[in-house]
Amino acid sequence: MTKADAADELARLAAEIAGHDRAYHERDAPTVTDAEYDALRRRNAEIEALYPHLVRTDSPSRRVAPAPAPGFAKLRHRVPMLSLDNTFDAADFEEFCQRVRRFLGLKDAVLPLVGEPKIDGLSISLTYEHGRLVHGATRGDGAEGEDVTANLRTTDAVPVKLQGKAPALIEVRGEVFMTKADFLALNAAQEAAGQRLLANPRNAAAGSLRQLDVGVTAGRRLSLFAYAMGDASERVAATHWEYLQQLTAWGFTVNPLSRKLDNAEAAAAFQAEIGAARAALPYDIDGVVYKIDDLDWQRRLGFVGRTPRWATAWKFPAEQATTRLEAIQIQVGRTGALTPVAWLAAVNVGGVLVTRATLHNEDEIARKDVRPGDTVVLQRAGDVIPQIVSVIDADRDDRGEPFVFPDHCPICGSLAMRLAGEVVRRCTGGLTCPAQAEERLIHFVSRLAFDIEGLGERTIREFHAEGLVLGPADIFGLAAHEADIAAREGWGETSARNLMRAIDERRRIGLARFIYSLGIRRIGEANAKLLARHYGTFAAWREQMAAAVVIGSDARSGLGTILRVGPAIAEELADFFMEVRNVAVIDDLAGLLTIEDAESVADAGALAGKIVVFTGSLETMTRQEARSIAEKLGARVADSVSKKTDLVVLGADAGSKAKRAAELGVSTMNEQEWRILIAET
Ligand code: IVH
Repeated sequence: MTKADAADELARLAAEIAGHDRAYHERDAPTVTDAEYDALRRRNAEIEALYPHLVRTDSPSRRVAPAPAPGFAKLRHRVPMLSLDNTFDAADFEEFCQRVRRFLGLKDAVLPLVGEPKIDGLSISLTYEHGRLVHGATRGDGAEGEDVTANLRTTDAVPVKLQGKAPALIEVRGEVFMTKADFLALNAAQEAAGQRLLANPRNAAAGSLRQLDVGVTAGRRLSLFAYAMGDASERVAATHWEYLQQLTAWGFTVNPLSRKLDNAEAAAAFQAEIGAARAALPYDIDGVVYKIDDLDWQRRLGFVGRTPRWATAWKFPAEQATTRLEAIQIQVGRTGALTPVAWLAAVNVGGVLVTRATLHNEDEIARKDVRPGDTVVLQRAGDVIPQIVSVIDADRDDRGEPFVFPDHCPICGSLAMRLAGEVVRRCTGGLTCPAQAEERLIHFVSRLAFDIEGLGERTIREFHAEGLVLGPADIFGLAAHEADIAAREGWGETSARNLMRAIDERRRIGLARFIYSLGIRRIGEANAKLLARHYGTFAAWREQMAAAVVIGSDARSGLGTILRVGPAIAEELADFFMEVRNVAVIDDLAGLLTIEDAESVADAGALAGKIVVFTGSLETMTRQEARSIAEKLGARVADSVSKKTDLVVLGADAGSKAKRAAELGVSTMNEQEWRILIAET
């Protein structure tokens, strides 16, 4: 992998992982399985280990926890909300007890503990002043969470007023969760209403609580177990056990299975007992939390990093079951990824009836050699989507043939290609594939692409669902439906006429925008511009791309050498052109549009061939504007300063890049000088 490839891939991974993070933390709707997510993070870490100087400021490896989602006000916790260290077996647990003893200098064998089932929900902090609820916040990044007070007030699980005598101030902490029954009922209702299904009770609880529309939260059934203390204006108990009794007296629900334990042996027995009861419990748990009972001892033990020395979460091993694999089906996601799904004879795994499991990708199927008809071991680790661990009757005589992963999309029949170094095979028929068309159309009309006023995401989804717009070319035939559109709810003659005018205005489009709008993987705005400049005309680009399909052709190697495009992107483009349906879409569009030649500024511009870096904040223009001006003048804009950099433009508060430019003797100018330079050219 070249340095440029590494930088490209790190950029792509940063964006992709951030997208999954947002889906998970802000929308509570994970877009990939945990295993896929972990694989992306691992890949990121591997590349960063090879190229430490390419680690991005927005690298996923630098982000520990998600910041509060936008939309909610932030609340600072008076005492930070931390997490727990994990323990996986009795030896680990014994080690935890020994550490505690050593730290406190205890000789005695007795070590009073409290064990509480560990619920996989979301932790919240409730602030009470003189017994009245004043704030409720999610954990957020531990220091600051989201203000969900209004949402919490809608649930009976949270007392708004404490019973009996209460301190002037107390922060009570606990876990908001959804029971298995409430989760299933919610998903049934979502399904009936044609709404998105929630992945698991944890996501359902988080999604229900973090609703900007409090009315939605009010309609959901949430539960709460209280289990910890944040700040307090006075001492309310001497032991954790006493504190739990106090919580109950104030009106909170404390997990009734919580138990006082005398030592590590009692804890091990409790672990086994709860483990056996686990499947039948009305809520999901993933372990048991053990806490040192004496609160003075807790205070003395304190914290290491972000976890307390006085508690540990002893996790259960993942739940497993055995069943028959009936068939392997290939699903096509909205981004064209082909995902194998195992159809199983229904089986109960840890209290959940399972009929499907993910097989991740073709390598996984090959590695485990999973075949229809096999008996497989399934595992559920937190998520409702279980995984196939292994095949147990692989030496059977009457076993079927190894599974052959398709090289064509099962939905649209286009070629499905897998790029070197990637695990996922993707359908290349993005513009025509029904599984992807909607997302592609949204991209097609987006701001940096066709940017058609009045044709946003919502309208595209509507038009697509009703068959008005199935592919990009249909947009330019909408005039035939102007009257129907005018008659639609929320439209009218003027809006319809304006839309037609906006569409007509875009019948003339620059080559770079046109290329970008096709949504070819890895061909973002910058690469589209590069291609447009390099080939100049639509005809030349179209001809060269068609020729580049042949590996080893002049066109292919030419493509690979264009600045920054590199072989991986060349392969991506070639794969796109290899699919005749894509070429047909492009040709259809070309017949409907006037695709303007790219200005061949790169040779003539004042900054022709120069590498420019912008740093610090510019006051008179946005970064994007500055970049586009520099590119118009023939420059290439880079993100970091190197020996090859020709010019660094310093905005206000320019930091390390300015220093680096000085060290390397690279020319710099301030914003005013930059403005003079661009005005003169
Ligand atoms: S005590 C200083 N007790 O587990 C640590 N946490 O991995 C305070 N959790 O963020 C946490 N049940 O969301 C505690 N009985 C319990 C718990 C519990 C579930 C969650 C909580 C926390 C996470 C830590």
